[in-house]
Amino acid sequence: MVETVELGFDLDPARTIVANRVTLRHNPDSKSRDLVLHGEEIELVALRMNGTLLAPGQYLLGANTLTIRKAPLNVVLEIETLCAPDQNTTLSGLYVSNGSFYTQCEAEGFRRITYFPDRPDVMAKYTVMLRANKEQFPVLLSNGNLVEEGELGDGRHYAKWEDPFKKPSYLFALVAARLVCQEERYTLQSGREVLLQVWVEEGNLDKTDYAMQSLKNSIRWDEERWNLELDLDRFMIVAVSDFNMGAMENKGLNIFNTKYVLANPRVATDIDYAGIEAVVGHEYFHNWTGNRVTCRDWFQLSLKEGLTVFRDQEFSADMIGTDTGRAVTRIDQVRTLRQAQFPEDAGPMAHPVRPDSFVEINNFYTVTVYEKGAEVVRMYQTLLGRDGFRKGMDLYFQRHDGQAVQCDDFRAAMADANGRDLKQFERWYSQAGTPVVTARTRYDAAAHAYEITLSQRCPATPGQADKLPFHIPVAVGLLDAHGKDLPLTLEAPSSRARVHHGVRPQSDTSSTGNTSRVRVRTGSDPTVGGTADPTDSAVTTLVLELTEAEQTFRFTGVKEAPTPSILRDFSAPVVLECDYSDDQLLHLFKFDSDPVNRWEAGQRLALERLLKLVPAAAAGQRLELDDTFIAAQRAVLTDTALDAAFREQALILPSETVIAEHMEVVDPQAIHTARQFMRRTLGTVLRNELLAVYAANQTPGAYSPDAASAGKRALKNLALSYLMVAPDQTALRLAQQQFDAAGNMTDRAAALSALIHSGADAGKYLDRFYQDFLNEALVVDKWFGMQATAPHADVAAVRELMKHPAFTLKNPNRARSLIFSFCNGNPSQFHAADGSAYDFWAEHVIKLDALNPQVAARLARSMDRWRRYAPELQVHMRRALEQVAGTSPLSNDVMEVVSKALAN
Ligand code: TRP
Ligand code: ZN
Repeated sequence: MVETVELGFDLDPARTIVANRVTLRHNPDSKSRDLVLHGEEIELVALRMNGTLLAPGQYLLGANTLTIRKAPLNVVLEIETLCAPDQNTTLSGLYVSNGSFYTQCEAEGFRRITYFPDRPDVMAKYTVMLRANKEQFPVLLSNGNLVEEGELGDGRHYAKWEDPFKKPSYLFALVAARLVCQEERYTLQSGREVLLQVWVEEGNLDKTDYAMQSLKNSIRWDEERWNLELDLDRFMIVAVSDFNMGAMENKGLNIFNTKYVLANPRVATDIDYAGIEAVVGHEYFHNWTGNRVTCRDWFQLSLKEGLTVFRDQEFSADMIGTDTGRAVTRIDQVRTLRQAQFPEDAGPMAHPVRPDSFVEINNFYTVTVYEKGAEVVRMYQTLLGRDGFRKGMDLYFQRHDGQAVQCDDFRAAMADANGRDLKQFERWYSQAGTPVVTARTRYDAAAHAYEITLSQRCPATPGQADKLPFHIPVAVGLLDAHGKDLPLTLEAPSSRARVHHGVRPQSDTSSTGNTSRVRVRTGSDPTVGGTADPTDSAVTTLVLELTEAEQTFRFTGVKEAPTPSILRDFSAPVVLECDYSDDQLLHLFKFDSDPVNRWEAGQRLALERLLKLVPAAAAGQRLELDDTFIAAQRAVLTDTALDAAFREQALILPSETVIAEHMEVVDPQAIHTARQFMRRTLGTVLRNELLAVYAANQTPGAYSPDAASAGKRALKNLALSYLMVAPDQTALRLAQQQFDAAGNMTDRAAALSALIHSGADAGKYLDRFYQDFLNEALVVDKWFGMQATAPHADVAAVRELMKHPAFTLKNPNRARSLIFSFCNGNPSQFHAADGSAYDFWAEHVIKLDALNPQVAARLARSMDRWRRYAPELQVHMRRALEQVAGTSPLSNDVMEVVSKALAN
């Protein structure tokens, strides 16, 4: 166990000396007296134990460990090591970016800085002394409070920082850089004043306002919704352009990818603004969910990530404030799950929210741990209600503040605070795979009763052949023929039902009330989306609790055959199978009071048709789109009573990736043809309506990223993109005019993207865009990304773009903007019949691996679903995978991904 850590850094890009004085005490729970420290890519210079210099024979230096056999119970170690930050291209540990020093220690980067028991349950107090050249590195930052600073002579200066809170090593950070900051004193609700700073490179001081505003909003929101206060006197955000992920929650010193800090209307889109708000919130919220209460081990990663994603989702939704705004953020979350998490859960890297094994932890910062983890947290709130969930959170902090705990501790807090048995709920943490819920319905006209029978199954995943039933909250409503919600009365489980499903738990057999199985949503507890009329106390959404393989729920007093709206607000991360007729879907698409299910009905209508168009496209048949579907789309497009943001969501067709997930054998070209046909048809048939929507949703005047304005721009730009699938002169002129006149990046980028993707000769516009923004790295990333995802951009075009002087593999954002965009965002070209893009993929996984294994392993994931393609493509894909797997040396990161892909 570590008590204190005193770190001294003599910062030199080529040769940094780290002096670590660490006080250790034997852990009474451990039988071993050997002291084992982790260390990677560092050179040991000297080692002292309790004041005496140790000779090489008195310790063991393994490949990645330093061991002192039979150590005394109390030890003070003084460890001096050397490292070379300017040679560190992995962006893990201490590294140089654009001439300055930054650190990234999560998950296991601290061991690249000094020898240490580098695991999250080892929590200690840190004091840090930084010494560096003052001219080159005028700003010296670390965690906690600045306690001393001064000059050292010979052009060097120093700063001493003290973090008053115990923390795991993964939350350590330092920055030594030439930076400037926007700062502000901010008064907490308690009256205490804190100092907030956003640090950036000199030219970017005009892009820090939104991050600062988002930080203040985050602080306020955490106080108001969860009664959680900032525990430090000083909170810093630092932006760095070389960064593996989005951002990092180091205690008091959050380090961010520039992408999630820098914004002004000229360079950032509405989506960028939303990303900044979400990530600033996310990292800030980690201060309680992650830092004050941390993870016992890395298997528990979702304890902090799932919970913190849930918190940032709720923050973003609350910042919009309206019910539809909230629903639109929910729809985005559903989209992400289907686009990325469901495929992961169905592929070779499938793992539970709490993984039970891994080769490289960095490969498990996944959509499953983050987004599905957030869904699992959200389900507690759906099952327990907002108030019950809040009680669980309060108990969690009361019990575990200052501790390193497990996912089970969170579940226990939720259960105990609410007197609920959540034992079965544990399966959401231990079983991988996306459950499939099937709904069958039956209307009993004579009895005025309506039955919904829900059954569940979960496909096998690697290492998990058989699954046990999950505890699934299924929010349900019933619509009458006019589209109005029916008041719901659920019949208590009948004895017949009990006999039929014999294993129902004892506590659920009460004859009335049925409170533990069904959650009633009322106006005062809008856990599940949709608006409730406070004057109308009738319950119109019920949360059914599906816990068995199959259960029947019987509603009484139903005077006509209703249309069921099942899984409202996407109440569980499952696939819902339901034999909806076209008429039922059209009814829901028109009337469902739950905006998420209203959107969902539209997605089902589109997907059904797309899945018929794809084989027709593959067979070279003439493609057709029915008037019913077009009329439904027209109705939503022109319904000005609906929020623009919702209309835009309703009009976006399921992505090529989502369509592919519904096919037995994936044919990327046919999918692309079918989807483009549908977009082109809508663009042609609804031309006048789209033009009208385009004109009616302009946002003149000063740019504002608020949800209403962003929604208008999104709808208007979607209209433009539909008009541009097969552009006539009018559409082309609109796009060109928008590009020329745009007062913000959202509109400028949308116009350019529409021009490039239409196949029109966009060279002139691409050049102008580049010339205007060549000094804005994040905009140059957009420039590469748009070109890489254009339908006509083949692998040769991408290779050509890589020759551009602005391209570099070393910067992760740039590599992602071109290579990842192409491999993940341009499926019909990536899966070109000759396999040439797979060779491109293999070549760049290998090249990236030599620089940055974490980034390389992410690119390696592009091939996860290779077994779902036609045999001819699989031959090429296997060859590319084997080429990577056979490369030596190869990082564990990439090896884990490709070997799992190749395994049977
Ligand atoms: N904890 C960070 C977050 O979710 C994730 C993160 C940032 C990270 N940088 C990393 C994870 C590097 C692994 C490696 O906010
Ligand atoms: Zn996080």
